[in-house]
Amino acid sequence: MKSRARAPTKVTLFGEHSVVYGFPAIVFSLPIYVEVNAEKHGKTSILTGPANLRTVDLVLSDNSIEVGESTKKYLLRYISYIKKSLELVKVEGVKIEIKSPLPVGAGLGTSAAVAVGTIAALAALKGIELDKEEIAKKAWTVEKEVQGRASPMDTAASALGGILWLERVEDEWRIERLTALEIKLVIGVFEKQKTTAELVQDVAARLERSYIYKEVIKVMGDIAREARKALENGDWTYLGELMNLNHSMLEALGVVNKEIALAVHAARVAGALGAKLSGAGSGGAVVALADDPTPVAAALKVVGAKDVFVVNKPSRGVEVNIF
Ligand code: MEV
Repeated sequence: MKSRARAPTKVTLFGEHSVVYGFPAIVFSLPIYVEVNAEKHGKTSILTGPANLRTVDLVLSDNSIEVGESTKKYLLRYISYIKKSLELVKVEGVKIEIKSPLPVGAGLGTSAAVAVGTIAALAALKGIELDKEEIAKKAWTVEKEVQGRASPMDTAASALGGILWLERVEDEWRIERLTALEIKLVIGVFEKQKTTAELVQDVAARLERSYIYKEVIKVMGDIAREARKALENGDWTYLGELMNLNHSMLEALGVVNKEIALAVHAARVAGALGAKLSGAGSGGAVVALADDPTPVAAALKVVGAKDVFVVNKPSRGVEVNIF
């Protein structure tokens, strides 16, 4: 028996970092999927990462781990998400294969998708029925354990799909589905220099250092509230302005490196209505809103994007099959 889960990645439209402190965020589940294949495999667990994940040549067996050279950089981050997922679903003797069009840590929720996909595939293999909400919760536990501190944003976007509003109200996370007219997003992927855990930690240190950063985080929450109205009314001009504002706040938090600053500027010069960093920062991804995506996509390539995607509809969340 085998199972296969397809878990979507995501782009954060508003509120990365501030969402860690409970302020609202808007996240768009991308129809770009991490695929997790699982099958029973005696007593041995084997994990393989194909080349397109940029985590190749990993074989984990009872007593040995073989690691290919090109794998080393991403390996530890990647494997910890799978190991935690295995612990959580309590499965042994399984072969897992992960395929992803994006590297882990690109700022597009690939690690959350790896956790969501692994949990969904392993649960299906064990005959456990988990609904999407339960998968989201378990995957969030994995992210919190690996990252130290994490909001439920990325794992909810991957498990549930759609465009989601997240906000912590009186210690409870409120997650709502938003409806929007067709939206044209251009996403550029750049090299990431720091892990999400490090960046979340950097921001926490700033918040401790000065109250002014707490004000910045609060303003990010206000921007997300305005953005929700603009998104629901299809007011793309205002939505673009709000993306620019959100980006400025991320710059103020110190998570925007030179490459991303340049890419955001290039997207705006090429006609984007708005552009911002997506994700934890220090490289990673840029998301732009555009009437005409073609010149914006070209501009992102010119300034060094490794991949560029144009997207207008969100995914429907994780899907799992047994065969
Ligand atoms: C990472 O995609 C987004 C952050 O807000 C962290 C989190 O929400 O857990 C930086």
